[in-house]
Amino acid sequence: MTREEFKTRNGIIGKSKEINDLIDIIMQVAKSDISVLIYGESGAGKEVFAKAIHDFSNRSNKPMVSVNCGAIPEGIIESELFGHVKGSFTGAVDSRKGYFEIANNSTLFLDEIGELPLTTQVKLLRAIETQEFMKLGAETVTKVDVRIIAATNKDLQKEVDARRFREDLYFRLKAVSLNIPPLRKRRSDIEELAKHFAKIYCNNNKIDCPEFTPGAIKVLENYSWPGNIRELKNTIETTIALNRSKVITEEMLSDLTSEYVDYDEHRNLPVFLKKSPEDVDRELMYRALFEIKKDILELKDLIVHRFTVEDYKKNSDGEDVLSIRELERDAIIKALDKTKGSKRKAARLLNISERTLYRKLKEYDINEV
Ligand SMILES: Nc1ncnc2c1ncn2[C@@H]1O[C@H](COP(=O)(O)OP(=O)(O)OP(=O)(O)O)[C@@H](O)[C@H]1O
Ligand SMILES: [Mg+2]
Repeated sequence: MTREEFKTRNGIIGKSKEINDLIDIIMQVAKSDISVLIYGESGAGKEVFAKAIHDFSNRSNKPMVSVNCGAIPEGIIESELFGHVKGSFTGAVDSRKGYFEIANNSTLFLDEIGELPLTTQVKLLRAIETQEFMKLGAETVTKVDVRIIAATNKDLQKEVDARRFREDLYFRLKAVSLNIPPLRKRRSDIEELAKHFAKIYCNNNKIDCPEFTPGAIKVLENYSWPGNIRELKNTIETTIALNRSKVITEEMLSDLTSEYVDYDEHRNLPVFLKKSPEDVDRELMYRALFEIKKDILELKDLIVHRFTVEDYKKNSDGEDVLSIRELERDAIIKALDKTKGSKRKAARLLNISERTLYRKLKEYDINEV
């Protein structure tokens, strides 16, 4: 099979040297059982390449089993991977096969491998090396024949240095490592991808496919695409859906030309390129999470405070004891007194948010000082 045939068969678009080199490696290693570690930013195509490897391997008659290690709660991850026998823990009403067993004679795709807890990493390494494992609560080993492809958008070497990822597992996984470059590092693929996604969208929706003006292509090629191919695909689909015209012009893509943060220089910062509804939603979500975090911290403080007050009450025999509410009311009045009525300063003194202070003023019916 030629490289071009391989691309067509797997729906892989791109003629950049980066993509061609990747395809050459994949075609060489796919048929062996060697582990492959795929690195790439979100939306860069990790799953597409993992699937292409599996489909070109001798295991392709069985479907590849995909597991997102970051999406499984820590407490059940081992039972998900290795399975369990009936009664092995509360709630284990039935025996269950784990993904390792389901992927027997096939490929197990471990997505977001960097999110795996350290204790599970030990067990995973052993299972990969020996091709056997014990289900939770089982007394015998289960033997399998599984090929592993793992993917991550984290720099695993850094994770190893920070002792969050086991070095032995890292070496075992990266027998072959593939680095899928972000879209902004292979701009020559953008035009072909854009036209490809436009065609698919229009075919699916039974509408005529628009052309792109040279100006529009330039805008697409100059944008930084922090969300990579997924973002490009969404952008093309939204633009077609919103404009319903015969040509896609530069103006229709004006969102992409507004000021943006250079993603390379600020890789770890959230990027707000433009205020699209999703950006606004995300911002609101961040804020809500931030508020929740603050509330939790306050609750923690309150619990600690309560315990000390209750201990105090227990130990102070017979003396005048104030209720917690009275103590709290007293503290607020004193704080406001001290800050000459400045609520912001008082809140800081009390180690609560201004919002909480306002609520408590109302609750305790404290008149403003
Ligand atoms: N070279 C390519 N040619 C055509 N489509 C592609 C290519 N690479 C990726 N895609 C498409 O882009 C989207 C994102 O790809 P994929 O899910 O493989 O990315 P990912 O790296 O796994 O992302 P994430 O880190 O978010 O899981 C998918 O719709 C996929 O079909
Ligand atoms: Mg993925």
